[in-house]
Amino acid sequence: MDHFDYRDGELWCEGVALSAIAKAVGTPVYVYSSATLERHFNVFQDAFKGLGVGEPLVAYAVKANSNLSVLSTLAAQGAGADTVSEGEVRRALAAGIPPSRIVFSGVGKTAAELAFAVQTGVCEINVESEPELDLLAEVAARLGKRQAIAIRVNPDVSAGGHAKIATGKSENKFGVSFAEALRLYAKAESLPSIHAAGVACHIGSQITDLTPMREAFAKMRGLVENLRQHGHRVERLDLGGGLGVPYFNQPTPPAPDAFAAMVAEVTQGLDVQLAFEPGRMIAANAGVLISEVIHVHERPEGRRFLVLDAGMNDLIRPAMYDAYHAISPLKEPTGDASLVTYDVVGPVCETGDTFTRDRDLPPLGSGDLVAFLSAGAYGAAMSSEYNSRPLVPEVLVKGDDYAVIRPRPSYDEMLAREPMAPWLKA
Ligand code: LLP
Repeated sequence: MDHFDYRDGELWCEGVALSAIAKAVGTPVYVYSSATLERHFNVFQDAFKGLGVGEPLVAYAVKANSNLSVLSTLAAQGAGADTVSEGEVRRALAAGIPPSRIVFSGVGKTAAELAFAVQTGVCEINVESEPELDLLAEVAARLGKRQAIAIRVNPDVSAGGHAKIATGKSENKFGVSFAEALRLYAKAESLPSIHAAGVACHIGSQITDLTPMREAFAKMRGLVENLRQHGHRVERLDLGGGLGVPYFNQPTPPAPDAFAAMVAEVTQGLDVQLAFEPGRMIAANAGVLISEVIHVHERPEGRRFLVLDAGMNDLIRPAMYDAYHAISPLKEPTGDASLVTYDVVGPVCETGDTFTRDRDLPPLGSGDLVAFLSAGAYGAAMSSEYNSRPLVPEVLVKGDDYAVIRPRPSYDEMLAREPMAPWLKA
């Protein structure tokens, strides 16, 4: 459930009409609902209550939507953070997430990033390879610290979904094999600057079927038992993120309750602290991208292009993953308007700047406003200034109130970021 709905003939976010935000801030603009972010986090966290698995660490995957106000909204609900760069660790800290709830993941952490994370005192660094373990041991020793780690395992499970966001097969770059994990865990335990705390996995994103997750988690359970048989202590099991969201027209993902029940069944009696790294399921349906129709271009030979002021630089998911985003006019369509078929495109000079082809929508014209739904995750976070289009702004709604939480840079600000090489100055 989210807090975007039609009222009095218009699309609202909580207590604010989206057209009012479009008017005040301009388009394109991302709008997020605080109540939806809070609800999704709590639904996920509460799903584990009463299942006998203890209180898991829910480390929100910052990459999905890393705006400081979004992070701070989630921090107030008790969220931890799953981070993949020093920048993300800094964002989590700036948003008030304590280091004791910050996990640092990623396949290629630099020595400087590792040092920053160790000094910060993050609760878990997910180590993805032997060279990384060696480097971290060295860095932590130099700093006189003992760092808790989890070994990230690649469970070699096919998660379904788009190949570009599958991470859990052995041909993907993430994590180590089970055999390697056993060896690396033993090595980690022998290193004085390392505390081998657990194991981690993450098999992919937008997963809509529990079967591959169950398979991966069962293998992880086997690994924990195997490690213990070898005399190792295993305190934490990090099962990653990946739970899908109901993008319109897509297979319906399992509800958090069903996910939690499956986890409880698979990990029953294991006596570990569970950790999760959900991103999309918390942020996706908490955000929309509002855009204005520039014009409709009808080709005599048949195609009808709805040209928007939002482009692939603002929302790259359709271009990159053939992702489907529902498009809703801000003005509620009247039941009797017959639908028109459009190719919905942006202004960027690439054929890939096509949000969708052959989409049936109510009749739209220049100046009309539309919202791309389910755009709160991997939307603004992946936006760019390609084609020198100023970075798309972000707005957060809370009840009847809203705030610009990332302003659109002016053209002067955009150009001022690039100092001219001294020899080119006039
Ligand atoms: N943990 C790790 C280690 C990850 O790599 C990811 C996502 C997550 C957690 C969060 O996964 P989620 O719960 O959001 O599915 N840009 C793509 C998605 C890339 C996901 C990358 N890793 C998209 O727009 O679909």
